[in-house]
Amino acid sequence: MADTSIPSFKAADLVIQLSSSLKTKPDVGEFGSVFTDHMLTIEWTATEGWKAPFIRPFGNLTLHPASTSLQNAIQLFEGLKAYRGDDNQLRLFRPMLNMNRMANSARRTCLPTFDQSELLECIRKLVEIEQDWVPHSDVASLYIRPTFVSTEQSLGIKKPTRALLYVILSPAGFYFKTTDAVSLWADPKYTRAWKGGTGDCKMGGNYGCSLYAQYEAVDYGCQQVLWLYGDDHQVTEAGTMNVFLHWINENGDEELATPPLDGIILPGVTRRSILELSRKWGEFAVTERYITMDQLCCAVKQQRVKEMFGCGTACMVCPIGRVVYQGQDLHIPHQDAKVTTRIAKELTDIQYGRTPSDWAFLV
Ligand SMILES: Cc1ncc(COP(=O)(O)O)c(C=O)c1O
Repeated sequence: MADTSIPSFKAADLVIQLSSSLKTKPDVGEFGSVFTDHMLTIEWTATEGWKAPFIRPFGNLTLHPASTSLQNAIQLFEGLKAYRGDDNQLRLFRPMLNMNRMANSARRTCLPTFDQSELLECIRKLVEIEQDWVPHSDVASLYIRPTFVSTEQSLGIKKPTRALLYVILSPAGFYFKTTDAVSLWADPKYTRAWKGGTGDCKMGGNYGCSLYAQYEAVDYGCQQVLWLYGDDHQVTEAGTMNVFLHWINENGDEELATPPLDGIILPGVTRRSILELSRKWGEFAVTERYITMDQLCCAVKQQRVKEMFGCGTACMVCPIGRVVYQGQDLHIPHQDAKVTTRIAKELTDIQYGRTPSDWAFLV
């Protein structure tokens, strides 16, 4: 078991060293390719505990070549965004959920725990320092990437005795190159996660090992993988998004359904927010349930599928237009995607401050 009792770093101890030469801010380019002027670093050792958090000029890390983050993927990350509202106020969206998920991933990786509110306050301070990097746009934002890596210098596989938590920032526009519906390739020969594994944690290893299938999806003319699980080919996630299906279910009821959090699915902040928003509408059943490919194929044939979409911080909501599965080309209605559009509007209205909400965290 990971030790959960160690004292945390404190935002009040932050040491700030500002960069003497600021970069010219380029236009928002490819996702995650441009970084701001500063970063947050916080070191930990088993003997001395957490050091003071440090905001310093953005720069390379020096890592021992045997670091177990490089050798054994003992690392994890998070992803959230800062949005600039029409009122010029910067907001984060439900950031404590990311802090909480990060602490869960840390526990599962045997990395040390920390006080989630203290990390959030350090991130708030970093974003405040980098505020000019938050785009003046309601389709762009500043992506925040907290990362936590083992710096244990050993080829042995063991619980880290030293680690580095750092946070970098990158201006972000649209995640996908087009805003059209995405196409998904579903083949049970690849599995993203499995029961008892780490699919519900945000660890780099989950993503690195999904890349090969992602390129095969492209070879089949699709943009993303629809990850399946089990002998009955349950739908789990789409690329790096949670997935929702709005349909008339097998009992003839209108339903917005998403697969349950049974350990193989990442508990998305966007997923949870969509469940909470749409349950408040009270217009149709909103359920967390298994959806198999047989059920989806049958519903497409019987024209019971209304919409399907992926969701996540990077893309927010993304309509799904096509699923390629075992020689079948399933066309999903997406031209008049009312629920997808309504959810996108309600979420962005909160993120950009047009609708007041306690989900918005002011920077
Ligand atoms: C595998 C996976 N599923 C779902 C999500 C969506 O999660 P969130 O809404 O918290 O961004 C992500 C993105 O972080 C992801 O990587």
